[in-house]
Amino acid sequence: MAAPRHQEATSASGGFTLILGAGAIGRLWAASLPPQRVRFIPRDTVPAARCCEYRLQAADGNQYPASIPYCETAQPLPRADCLLVTTKAADALPALERHITRLPRDIPVVLFQNGMGSQQRIAARWPERPILAAVTTEGANNPSAHLTIHAGRGQTSIGSLTPNAEHCLPTVVRHLQNSRLRVFPEPEIHQRLWQKLIVNAGINPFTALLNCVNGDILAHPFYLQHIDPLCQELHQLMAREGLNSPSADALRETIETVARATALNTSSMRADVLKNRPTEIDYINGYVASRGEALNLELATNRMLAERVRALTHC
Ligand SMILES: NC(=O)c1ccc[n+]([C@@H]2O[C@H](COP(=O)([O-])OP(=O)(O)OC[C@H]3O[C@@H](n4cnc5c(N)ncnc54)[C@H](OP(=O)(O)O)[C@@H]3O)[C@@H](O)[C@H]2O)c1
Repeated sequence: MAAPRHQEATSASGGFTLILGAGAIGRLWAASLPPQRVRFIPRDTVPAARCCEYRLQAADGNQYPASIPYCETAQPLPRADCLLVTTKAADALPALERHITRLPRDIPVVLFQNGMGSQQRIAARWPERPILAAVTTEGANNPSAHLTIHAGRGQTSIGSLTPNAEHCLPTVVRHLQNSRLRVFPEPEIHQRLWQKLIVNAGINPFTALLNCVNGDILAHPFYLQHIDPLCQELHQLMAREGLNSPSADALRETIETVARATALNTSSMRADVLKNRPTEIDYINGYVASRGEALNLELATNRMLAERVRALTHC
């Protein structure tokens, strides 16, 4: 089946995108942007193939072939309108460190990592560069090496993390709107990152520890024992961070609304545990616990959940 038409590319330098991290989200974006205008940056070793070949199963169930070239590792990176960083949170800074000297100083870098902590470290490491964060509700997974499933359509909000990113936000958003995905500018990106952190902190560790889909946590005694203290801690921390903090009851309501709306989904944390891959717990409940320590707050429930999830994987 032929891929659906893209909107016309409108960006000034031809609508070219580099992607670092050829996993589920990276492949979704690569196959959704205009064909021939995307390259994956490989790991430092020479990639086994010239192109990353796979099929994208769109949210409507139809499958489309994708063939995304890898950049030549020995050559300078091609001039691009932006770089999407789509590795897991723990890999984002080391991956960028490996390649950033090959990138022009003015290329916008858009970070797609879940949770918090990695974005702040990257923005602090390269404060002069235009660094942006994306919060996405798109869902994608790779059930096999050559198939990416767009499991759920969502939207992506993008906002600036460093001062030099402010002026390029509209251009980056317009550029990414040339995909089949929905993209919006977000002036309050920190608040948006926190909203997603709250939901992840309230759902993901429970699904991993109880080994169940999102909806099944809600009636479980372990969840019922810990959800109110967890929401109190999240409320306390947000207030201390100077953020607009809903009450603990409102945070619980938000978490449970999302758990009910995604009742049959397996969270990425549970999926990582089932495959014995490192989880992103250090960027979710682990981040909350460590911010608490830095601010002299005792956030024992977040710390307990982070420790228990860490103990589930041996990598
Ligand atoms: N998937 C989703 O639906 C979704 C939704 C919202 C947010 N996110 C967030 O997006 C991020 C990526 O998630 P994902 O599901 O796409 O993860 P993923 O499938 O594991 O993809 C990450 C990719 O990054 C690659 N990578 C790691 N280090 C690298 C390096 N140094 N150089 C080049 N590539 C490197 C990995 O390669 P290897 O496989 O070889 O290790 C892998 O292909 C996570 O923070 C996640 O929380 C994902």
